[in-house]
Amino acid sequence: MDAAQKTENRSKAGGTGYLFTDGIVVTSAPDGPVWAPGDVAVRNGRIIYAGAALTPARREKYFREGLQHWPLGGRVIMPGLINTHTHAAMSLLRGYAEDRPLLEWLERLVFPFESRLSGEAVYWGTLVSCMEMIRGGITTLNDMYFFMEDAAKAVADSGMRAVLGWGLSGIDAQSAERALAQAEEFYQKWNGAAGGRIRVCMAPHATYTCPPAFLAQVVERAAALGAGLHIHVAESPEECRRHQEQFGETEVATLERLGAWELPAVAAHCVQVTSGDIRILARHGVAVSHNPTSNLKLGNGIAPVQEMLDAGITVALGTDGPASNNNQDLFQEMRLAAIAQKGRTHDPTVLPAPQVVAMATQWGAKALRWPEIGALKVGNWADLVILRKPMSHRWPAWDVWSDLVYACHGGDVQDVLVAGQVILKNGQFTALDEGWVLAAAQMVLEAVKPPQRNVAWPLPKRE
Ligand code: NI
Repeated sequence: MDAAQKTENRSKAGGTGYLFTDGIVVTSAPDGPVWAPGDVAVRNGRIIYAGAALTPARREKYFREGLQHWPLGGRVIMPGLINTHTHAAMSLLRGYAEDRPLLEWLERLVFPFESRLSGEAVYWGTLVSCMEMIRGGITTLNDMYFFMEDAAKAVADSGMRAVLGWGLSGIDAQSAERALAQAEEFYQKWNGAAGGRIRVCMAPHATYTCPPAFLAQVVERAAALGAGLHIHVAESPEECRRHQEQFGETEVATLERLGAWELPAVAAHCVQVTSGDIRILARHGVAVSHNPTSNLKLGNGIAPVQEMLDAGITVALGTDGPASNNNQDLFQEMRLAAIAQKGRTHDPTVLPAPQVVAMATQWGAKALRWPEIGALKVGNWADLVILRKPMSHRWPAWDVWSDLVYACHGGDVQDVLVAGQVILKNGQFTALDEGWVLAAAQMVLEAVKPPQRNVAWPLPKRE
């Protein structure tokens, strides 16, 4: 099929739609109905029906109206997954710096590499991550990095949906004004772009990279724009100890004092939060992005997810960037979130599977303040994932929630639609050439990578 034909097929699909029949329809988590067999109808990018299998007469009516038939044969159809915290372009650094504590990992390895990156590198690194995420059933990402115009172009080209924030850090008075102006320009240019698939927020990196005066400026600017906030919070014990020493309060308290929690905010990690912090986050409606793999891999601990949920906080899931995970597979993240929380609390009843699916779908939408995604409801965007038929690792799939959380992995995703557009069909990208993208990304990586990795195994001996 040539490119022109592909484009024509896509526009036909977008203009009309699909009727998916005889699937296991997971409408919404944690308590939405599951229809088996069920049908889903999509027209002009939106869901117009999700429920029990329709009668032959009603199906015929949809076909006469131009919907294409997409038989599911008992496969699962569910809302696209929502990755509420990542740094997509860090696919360039996947596997580059391993087995290090957060601050050493950042300061000695990651930041020096990042200082060499270009907009072109960020474009290709982001596009590689988008392909990975689409393959794993992720339809929306919440991304924080730099050269964000290039990241936005990659997201637009991938067909995904995203909230993007220009990562702000570091900053003397002069560069602060420049960084803010850049972030604001990015907001003006890209918020609402790509047919509304891209939204922009403000993304100060963290309290340990942004001094309070600068954070206050970011908050003020975000409020003026009506933009949300995306920030790393209380990720590692060492960072929290230093903050407490320097400011005599927790990061969450500092951010409250600076007005950050008045904004619609996503606080990534929140591993080392106190019970007082949890009360503050709950009081202000701050959403938390839980990133269990990254938190465990960097030795930062396990976030008190159950306590945060008990306090009424929206807790969603994120993969974090490929340099600290090392994949962006939200199915693996669901499994680990459930298992780690049970282990931490010594209670196997916490985080039951439907709640974990909610963290990766509907609660992700709530965290990003994007109510038209995250559930298969009439009127919502048709961001859909269709899984393969269960192979041996999923058989016999007694229960769909257990299947999704404990047995599936990203490789079980077969088809992906965003806003009714098919972007992955039977495991193949409809508009991207994966081999070509990887080859281009490799060329760019060769041009920007440091001459040598300055820390390698074996690691220095512990005292
Ligand atoms: Ni992060």
